[in-house]
Amino acid sequence: MDKPNDLMDKLVSLCKRRGFIFQSSEIYGGLNGCWDYGPLGVELKRNVKNLWWRDMVTSRDDMVGLDASIIMNPKVWEASGHVGGFADPMIDCKKCKGRFRADQLYYAVREGQSRQGGSASVWFSAIADKVEDASAVMELQLKKKGRQIREWTNDFELVRYDQEQSEQAPCPACDEKGSLTVPRAFNLMFKTHCGAMEDSSSVTYLRPETAQGIFVNFKNVLDTQRLKLPFGIAQIGKAFRNEINPRNYTFRSREFEMMEVEYFCHPSQADQWYQYWRKARFDWYVNLGLRSDRLRLRDHEKDELAHYAKSCVDIEYAFPFGVSELEGVANRTDFDLKRHQEYSGRDMSYYDDQTKERFLPYVIEPSAGVDRSVLAFLCEAYTEDEAPDDKGLPQKRVLMRLHPKLAPIKVAVFPLVKKDRMQEIAHKIHEQLKGRWNAFYDEKGAVGRRYRRQDEAGTPFCITVDGQTLEDQTVTIRDRDSLAQDRVSCDRIVDYLSEHLGN
Ligand code: GAP
Repeated sequence: MDKPNDLMDKLVSLCKRRGFIFQSSEIYGGLNGCWDYGPLGVELKRNVKNLWWRDMVTSRDDMVGLDASIIMNPKVWEASGHVGGFADPMIDCKKCKGRFRADQLYYAVREGQSRQGGSASVWFSAIADKVEDASAVMELQLKKKGRQIREWTNDFELVRYDQEQSEQAPCPACDEKGSLTVPRAFNLMFKTHCGAMEDSSSVTYLRPETAQGIFVNFKNVLDTQRLKLPFGIAQIGKAFRNEINPRNYTFRSREFEMMEVEYFCHPSQADQWYQYWRKARFDWYVNLGLRSDRLRLRDHEKDELAHYAKSCVDIEYAFPFGVSELEGVANRTDFDLKRHQEYSGRDMSYYDDQTKERFLPYVIEPSAGVDRSVLAFLCEAYTEDEAPDDKGLPQKRVLMRLHPKLAPIKVAVFPLVKKDRMQEIAHKIHEQLKGRWNAFYDEKGAVGRRYRRQDEAGTPFCITVDGQTLEDQTVTIRDRDSLAQDRVSCDRIVDYLSEHLGN
């Protein structure tokens, strides 16, 4: 069994080697919290977004789409509460200039008797989202300091950072004691200026969520589409947050993409729709291959709720680095429409012709991260097993068991060897398939190696044109997961693939 970090290391290395994900501006040393999707990654990401759009928008009667601008009037962010409240408590180290989120700092204190006698305390520090992660880091630190630690008798106690402890607690980066400042609010929005003047009148922000673009367009959409409640407005787009500690690969980035639905309904039906969306969104991940025993719904505690939410649940996934949020489903009440009504002076209400009632709708918001979904699908797909090589001997292989709907390349076509007739037929098959699916042609190297490359890319099927093809116009179609090879007549390839790929 791989240790979680080994698995992450292997995945990160495969993603770079095969062109799923690269570090942003790598040749200049990269930029923390920013990532680029390579030729395979962009297809995977596009498939995630297209499937979400199809399932949330085009296959439903109660949903419409929107594509709002990233830079909006700054009053939007005053009304939404982001200018005043979208902040993390931040702590700086005066020595090494490190910056940490106060709620992610943990300290282990150990009170006890040393062998030499006398009571003392030892401090260790770690940055982590959760107590479990923090204790794993602490254990490592304990091991590193080995001899010294064995002198202590009692178990150490794990405590979250608080102001009193800041004087003794060491910096988690440089170990210096007494170097940490008290927490200060740090707004996560990226600021910029619109136009030539760089003064306070031109300040604008890169959006930290796509949701507000939907709320400010509520009336436009309602009036132009003649919609009746309940209905939803969906949007996919980039969002930006100046995260203090971007980490865990793409999990916490500074630039990322969101897939958000704002589902408007009568306040009396909000609880019912909240329940509906919790289940619908959980099932969506399961249907695309995330194992349900690696997913869980975690209700927010009252003190954890965002300022706008009456209730909220996180859909969490067991990533190799810990169980972490994939998507949030929140009951945002009428908070946003009310605030925009107040700040803009525009009426945001809905009028029901039948009941003659005028009111501000409630909103249920399933809000998913594209990059986090992609990361979860990649983690789930990474598999190591054994497969026979060209000589029939068992060899270790790495494969990405991506759901066929998510796979960047659906089918690869090979001539067994570089012989004119075989190449010609293989090219013809490739030409025929590529109009319909993302198909890949490869004739370089031994066929076994070509299979391995496609296994790592997550390609569900490989078609091989061999000697028998020249005699009876059949090819082999190899299944990535079972390694089974079916002999299929050339004129049945399209039917075979559409049956097995499900489209
Ligand atoms: N409109 C609601 C909202 O923005 P959120 O929980 O802050 O809620 C929603 O974000 C989703 O966006 C998260 O569940 C996560 O998937 C994704 N997300 C948030 N911050 C992210 C980051 N720094 N990097 C990658 N994805 C992020």
